Order: sequence, then structure tokens, then C-alpha cells
Amino acid sequence: MRAQVQRVPQIVELLKKKSFGLQHFKPTSSVCVLEEKDAVAPAACPHAPTRTHGLDTIPGPTNWPLVGSLIELLRKGGLTRQHEALVDYHKKFGKIFRMKLGSFESVHIGAPCLLEALYRKEGSYPQRLEIKPWKAYRDLRNEAYGLLILEGKDWQRVRSAFQQKLMKPTEVMKLDKKVNQVMVDFVDRIGRINKSGRIEDLYFELNKWSFETICLVLYDKRFGLLQEKVNEEAMHFITAVKTMMSTFGMMIVTPVELHKSFNTKTWQDHTAAWDSIFSIAKVYIDKKLKKNAVRAPDDLIGDILHQSSLSKKELYAAITELQVGGVETTANSMLWLIFNLSRNPDAQRKLLQEIREIVPSGQNPSGEHLKSMPYLKACLKESMRLSPSVPFTSRTLDKDTVLGDYAIPKGTVLMINSHALGSSEEYFDDSKQFKPERWLRENSNINPFAHVPFGIGKRMCIGRRLAELQLQLAMCWLVRDYEIQRTASCLHQAIKLHLKVFWM
Ligand code: HEM
Repeated sequence: MRAQVQRVPQIVELLKKKSFGLQHFKPTSSVCVLEEKDAVAPAACPHAPTRTHGLDTIPGPTNWPLVGSLIELLRKGGLTRQHEALVDYHKKFGKIFRMKLGSFESVHIGAPCLLEALYRKEGSYPQRLEIKPWKAYRDLRNEAYGLLILEGKDWQRVRSAFQQKLMKPTEVMKLDKKVNQVMVDFVDRIGRINKSGRIEDLYFELNKWSFETICLVLYDKRFGLLQEKVNEEAMHFITAVKTMMSTFGMMIVTPVELHKSFNTKTWQDHTAAWDSIFSIAKVYIDKKLKKNAVRAPDDLIGDILHQSSLSKKELYAAITELQVGGVETTANSMLWLIFNLSRNPDAQRKLLQEIREIVPSGQNPSGEHLKSMPYLKACLKESMRLSPSVPFTSRTLDKDTVLGDYAIPKGTVLMINSHALGSSEEYFDDSKQFKPERWLRENSNINPFAHVPFGIGKRMCIGRRLAELQLQLAMCWLVRDYEIQRTASCLHQAIKLHLKVFWM
């Protein structure tokens, strides 16, 4: 009997599974790991300088007085579609181009060798683009900065407090039971809320799933978001994060000081959203700190808090930002993974086969099982290449730097366009196709700097290991129990989904 259980409203249907044939693959090397130890010898760069030129000679789109390329970008679909515009600009201007949006000027990089050059010249405290609206809020309320916005030695101090535990695979693996605890409820919820196999709003459900998981990891607390009667406070937090994210982009391209002086609606909404985020997070951080004397073996955050010398104010900011950074990014990546598998039934079949081989029936998938699941990892990598939830990150140069043919001065903001890299035919054959096998070929020649969904170097995403654990375990649960099918209205939803852009 085929119990129809559906996921997304219009996106995909999950139907009870049948069995399929299997194929084995071997993993490639550390294709997506770009930490110091994994770095390979510098490749010969076809864009190496013959003679260096100044910043002004970098090509780019129309630069009108005051607005720069803003009008052109708006014509191309606006800020929410800018990752697509960036792909077009790279096609038009090459691996590197320069663009001004209102008062914000940046240089865009879309070639692995330029990225590698940048990585090799990285200093002790790499800096991302300053997110002024976030800083303005913290200054207004006398709150500290967290990892997303800290700079210099302060960034390094806070990062070190979390780095050891959060970036160490063996430590993060210990969280598999917590991740599974939430998955049990998630799978149960799907069974309850589907209507003939359809789910009203899968993205929302996934946001609740990722929120519930990150909170269990951070605070050791269940919020019950996947239960019939949801926790209003947690729902309020999710909404506040969405408002905060949707209001700050405008204050990057127009001066935040102006918004603040005129108390614009954008500034008011942004401030109110952060107020909610901080007030909710503080309650749970306080509770966690109070009961921190007794810690379970998988209490990763408890261990960090126990060992760190950070002030309470610093902990509020750092943990709140971990929570903010971990909800929508993970939910969005999961949605794309589901979407990509729905359109690639062969890949889904191979994945199911691998799951059945490695995870004994009746057992929950575990961190240990994941070690022997190369196809699962390849599916995740491929989905993040094709549809990254964070299409670009940034660096502000802390010294004059030569990249390719150009000498770029200190203070310049570089945009690292991971979406453009991942969708380039030059670095990925059949780049529009979902082909997990490309990551498993014996002699894969994929340049590790062409796939950077979690960023690069010392400032790479600190939640990467946790996100990968969550996504991989969730895929085991879902693909084992359900068949994910495409629906007629998939494409429409996909376009809508593509509008989601996160600035990091
Ligand atoms: C699939 C899910 C995720 C994606 C795609 C993602 C992506 C990214 C990217 C691209 C960056 C910028 C890195 C750079 O500039 O080089 C970043 C930074 C960051 N992410 Fe994630 N992230 C994800 C999940 C998470 C989770 C689960 C957490 C929390 C546990 C988190 C917390 C952070 C923080 C705090 C930073 C700033 C790190 C720093 O500057 O030191 N992220 N993320």
C-alpha cells in the first residue's frame, strides 16, 4: 500500500518507498575542505599577473553617479536576484569585475585560482564586509558583537572559544542523537500534516526543524515546534530572524546612518526584530549557564561555556549569532536537497540503496554510519554546488593585494561568488545537471576552490560540521522512508525559492 505523505505544498511529494538497485562509489579527496592542512600546492594560475593594473582598470557594469549599477541591477530582478545577475556579469566581464551599488563598491571574484591566491595571502584576522546595520543595532543597545560581525583580535578570541569543538568532526559527530531526536518528531509530523501526500509549506516546516535542532544543541532544550501546539515564543524568534534578514540588505546599499536619523520603517523593523531575537535568546542562554555545572557527554556547548573566558555579554552575542546563522541556511539547503532529489530519481534510488546497505533496518542512522556513505555526501555537495543557500561571501582586504592582473588596495571589499563558481561550465561539466557522481570519480579534477558553499580559510562557516551532520542524517531518514517526487508546480516554487539570498 502506498501511504501518500507529502512534503512541500507545491514542491515535492514524498511517497512511501520501493526498493531499487545499488551502485558503489568512492569519495574523492578533500574537495570541499579548505582548511590549512588540506591546502595543495598553488596551481598555475591562467590569470597570473603579467603586468599589474590598478583598481580603476577592472571592468564592470555601468557606473552612474550616485547610483552606480543599482538601476541596472534592479532591471535584472533587484537585490534578491543579484546572484543571477552576478553570473551574467562574470560571463560578460570575466573572472573579476568591479561594481558599485549606491554607496557600496566591491570587486567580484569568480575564478578558483584567484580565490586560492586570496586564501594564500590571508592574514590572521580575515574580515568580511562590515554589516553596518547589525553593528548599529548592537551599539544602540550596548550589546556585544558575535562572530558574524566581530573583527581583529576580538574575533579571533571568540572564534577560538568555539572553534575546537564546533569544527572538530569527532566532537560534532557526538551530536547525532540530538539531531535524530528532532528527526523522529519531524518524520512523525510529516505523517500527520500531509494532505494526500502534500505538505502546505515545507520550507516553514524545515525552518522549524532546523530551529528545533540548533536550539537543542545550543540550549539542551526542546521548543516543541514540531508538535501540534507550537511554542509561540519560538515562532516569534523565527519570524524576527526573517524580518531582520529582509531589512538589512537595503541598509547596506544606502547609508544606515540615514535610516537611523530618519527613523525609517526599515530601521524600525530591523531594530524591533533584533530586540526580539536578543530578548528570547538571552532567556535560554541564562538558563543554560545556570545549569552548566552538570553536563551530559554530548553537551558540546556546555563544554565550550565551561572552558571559555568570554564575558556574559560576549556569550549572548556569540550564541545568538550561532542560532541566527544556523536556522535558515540549513533549512534552505535541505529544501534544495529535497528539490534536487525530486528531479533526479536515479540519484534518489542510488542513495536509498546506500542507506539500506549501511543503516541496518530498525536502526536510526548515526554519525558512525555516515562515515561509510560517500554517495550521500556527494548528493549534498552536488546540491550545494547547484543551489547554494549562501551564494556569496565577502572579504575586506587588510593589505594591498595582487589578484590576477590587478593590484587591489587595502580596504577593498571582495565578493567571493560561490554561486557563479558552482554554475560555471568551465569548472563543472554539464553544470546545470545534478550529478553527484562527479564528486566520486577516481581522478576527479574538480578544483577545491571552485566549491566553497561554506566560505574559505580561517573565517569559514563555524557551523559547517553541524550543518552537514544535520543535512546528512535528515536525508537518511527521509529517503529511507519516503519517495520524493516532483510535482507540476515545482518550477514555480523553485523560482520563488531562488529569491532567497543570504548575505554572509
Ligand atoms: C548549510 C548550512 C550553512 C551554510 C550554507 C552556511 C554558510 C556560511 C558562509 C558562506 C559563511 C561565511 C564564511 C566565509 O566568510 O568564509 C558562514 C559563516 C558563519 N556561519 Fe554558517 N552556514 C550554514 C550553517 C551554519 C550553522 C548551522 C551555524 C551555527 C551553528 C552557522 C554559523 C555561522 C557563523 C557564526 C558564521 C561566521 C563565522 C566567522 O566569521 O567566524 N552556519 N556560514
